[in-house]
Formats: sequence, C-alpha cells, structure tokens
Amino acid sequence: GIELGKLLAQTGYITYDPGFVNTGATASSITYIDGEQGVLRYRGYPIEQLAQHSTFIEVSYLLIYGELPTKQQLEEFANRINRHTLLHEDLKRFFDGFPRDAHPMPVLSSAVSALSTFYQDSLNPFDTESVELSTIRLMAKVPTIAAYAYKKSIGQPFLYPDNSLGLVENFLRMTFGLPAEPYELDPTMVKALDLLFLLHADHEQNCSTSTVRLVGSSEANLFASISAGIMALFGPLHGGANSAVLEMLERIKADGGDVDKFVSRVKNKEDGVRLMGFGHRVYKNYDPRAKIIKQTADEVLSKTGGGDELLDIAKRLEERALSDDYFIERKLYPNVDFYTGLIYRAMGFPTRFFTVLFALGRLPGWIAHWREMMSDPATKIGRPRQIYTGEKQRDYKPLSER
Ligand code: ACO
Repeated sequence: GIELGKLLAQTGYITYDPGFVNTGATASSITYIDGEQGVLRYRGYPIEQLAQHSTFIEVSYLLIYGELPTKQQLEEFANRINRHTLLHEDLKRFFDGFPRDAHPMPVLSSAVSALSTFYQDSLNPFDTESVELSTIRLMAKVPTIAAYAYKKSIGQPFLYPDNSLGLVENFLRMTFGLPAEPYELDPTMVKALDLLFLLHADHEQNCSTSTVRLVGSSEANLFASISAGIMALFGPLHGGANSAVLEMLERIKADGGDVDKFVSRVKNKEDGVRLMGFGHRVYKNYDPRAKIIKQTADEVLSKTGGGDELLDIAKRLEERALSDDYFIERKLYPNVDFYTGLIYRAMGFPTRFFTVLFALGRLPGWIAHWREMMSDPATKIGRPRQIYTGEKQRDYKPLSER
C-alpha cells in the first residue's frame, strides 16, 4: 500500500478526497481500528482488556513508548510526571488576562502554546532528551493548566498540585478542592475518570491528531503542535460533541422529554439537527468505547443520587434510534461521547469543561503520534494539493472601472 501510494504520487495525479475519508496520510503502529467490526486496539492490546486491567498512566506509557511498562518503568514515569506538575508562577498570570466567562478550551490551548516560551530548553524536535522532557512536562502540566482554567472560571483560588497523589487524583483535587479544606477523593469518581481518560487516549488519525501531525510536520515543537490539536478538538463535531450531547438532552427534557418528537426532527433534518453522540466516521457497527462507558454511566449515576432524568432520556433515545430505519440504514450507532457527558456532569464538571477532559485523555495519543512522526524517516512536511475551481485567468481592472 505504501509503495503504491508513492508510485501514484510520482504520476502527478491528484486524489480528490474531501474530509480525507479514503486517504492514508501516514503509516502508524500506535492504534488499530476496524470500524466494521467495532475493534479498537492500542499497540495491539484490545481496548476491553486495557479498560478492565490497566490505568490511564500505564496506557499513556504504552502509547508513547510502544510497550507496557515494567513496574519500575511505570513508577519512574509517574514520578517524573509528578515532579513537573507545577506551573511557572509567571504562567499563572496568563489566566488573569482572560475574561471570566472564557471557554476553557482556548484558555488551555493558549497556555499550552505559551509553554514553548517558558520551556525553551526542550523545543528541539530532533533531540531525544528535549522531546522526552517536553513529553513529561506536557503530561504533568496540562492537568494543572486545565484545573486552573476551571478555578478561574468560578473565581476560586488556584490550588498547587499535591505530588503525593496520582495524575487523576491530583487533577480532581486541584479542580474541586479548596485551599483550607482537605479534599476527600471518591474512589468511584477516580476510577471512572481514569477509565474515561484511558478510553479517549488515542484514536489514530482523527481530526485533532491529524492536526498535531500536520503542524508538527513543519518541525514545529511539541507544545505548539499540541496547542493546535487542542483547538481542533474544540469543534462541536469532534471534541465538542460530549457537551453538545448534554445540551441536546437538556433541550429534550425542557420540551417535555418527548424522544419520538426529537427523533422525527433529526430524520426530517429540521434546521440540520443531528442526534449528537451518534455516528462516527470510522465505526459503522458500534463504537466499542461506548459499550464500556454505558456501564460506567450506570455506576457513577447510581452513586451520585440515583436515577437521573437525562440518563433516562439518553437510554430511551438510544433504544429508539437503534430500532429506526434512518439510523440503521446509515449505520449510525452511539459513539464514545453519547454517555461521557452524563458521567462528567454527575461528577460535578460544568458542560463547557467536558471538552477539556477529552483533551486530557487524548494528550498521550497526540504525543505518541507526534513522536512517531518525528522519528519516521519517511516524514515530509504535510502539504495537500487541491482541485482548483476558480477563474482561469483574467486581467486586472482599475478601481475606477469596477
Ligand atoms: N444524526 C443524524 N444523522 C446523521 C448523524 C447524526 N448524528 N450522523 C450522520 N448522519 C447522517 C447524515 O445526515 C448523512 O445522511 P444523508 O446521506 O441522508 O445526508 C449520513 O448520516 C452520513 O453522514 P456524514 O455526515 O456523511 O458522516 P461523517 O462520517 O462525515 O460524519 C460525524 C461523522 C461527524 C461523527 C457525524 O456522524 C456527526 O455529525 N455525529 C454527531 C456529532 C458527534 O457525535 N461527533 C462525535 C464524533 S466521535 C468523537 O469525536 C470522539
């Protein structure tokens, strides 16, 4: 396949493939997806096994370095991350400049972009030690930045990281804790958030990962490339979908909880309304992550106050859609985000923060892809071609004649 691709490129033919639905932009050994069969594997390990036995930090190691770590490698990785969780005090001042009601995604992206000004000693994309240091810095500092973005939005003081805690625990404490009070971690929440991060950790050449690769292909540093990826994830058709699902469920609830009415609107394509959290560019059978998450949704929601009306609407909506010809014919199934929003909400995160949580989970995947690309001798600067459809040629008319 790779050789044929090279050969075609030499012939001068251009492939017209909007949305890159059929374009292999790279070779990669990180994540395998079989959309027809609903299969997802990280470095060959089925997502179901990783979800059952592994943790987000271990999976991050697996994605970035290619193998499951030994006990010692895992400890070293976690310890190194813990030693880099603090933000430079000057970087904290950035948060003062944003409006209080700023969306946390551009705040996160801007702060990550600014890391390349604070950590100029780790910007060389071809120096192994630099790349390693940037990797650890990102894994450590992005959760701190995300928590600060949240604190800023609610007007609470920032909490310094507590490095005796693991990555997920630390993030929860920095987000929901208060300076003068001990923060009690809820093991169900920790486990659920860890699982959600793990399930979001990579998904091969999706929009944000392709963005990280495209930006990185110009030899832009890791911080810059990840910052761009965060902005790609901001869009409602990608990372914004989990917030959009919740907004949709709220609207259905406000409208009396009539699922049939909403499904009719979707089928009639009224105002382009879509069933958010349904459909996927690659999965045309089911999204294996959605299956795992559905169970977690039940666990978390029963822990945080029993039956939730929105969960009930979500379940009825899913049932209704799965038995409807419109969705069957188009192979539209619930994707990973159909239930994640409900879980995040039950944990106490505001809707606008959901996409930030997606970014935290996807971070090791972005890093793994950037590193794979940088070490691949076949890498070229990303530079797609086009089919020109404009005017062929015309002569300039002076302003007075127009
Ligand atoms: N609700 C209703 N109809 C849909 C939906 C949906 N969620 N998704 C696709 N369709 C329909 C389209 O209208 C189209 O039908 P048509 O041929 O009659 O016009 C057909 O299914 C194919 O849709 P496309 O848009 O061509 O499919 P594509 O692969 O480009 O889109 C996408 C995939 C963007 C995920 C789409 O399914 C969608 O918009 N879903 C809702 C948003 C969402 O949940 N995004 C999260 C994706 S997962 C992630 O980022 C982690």
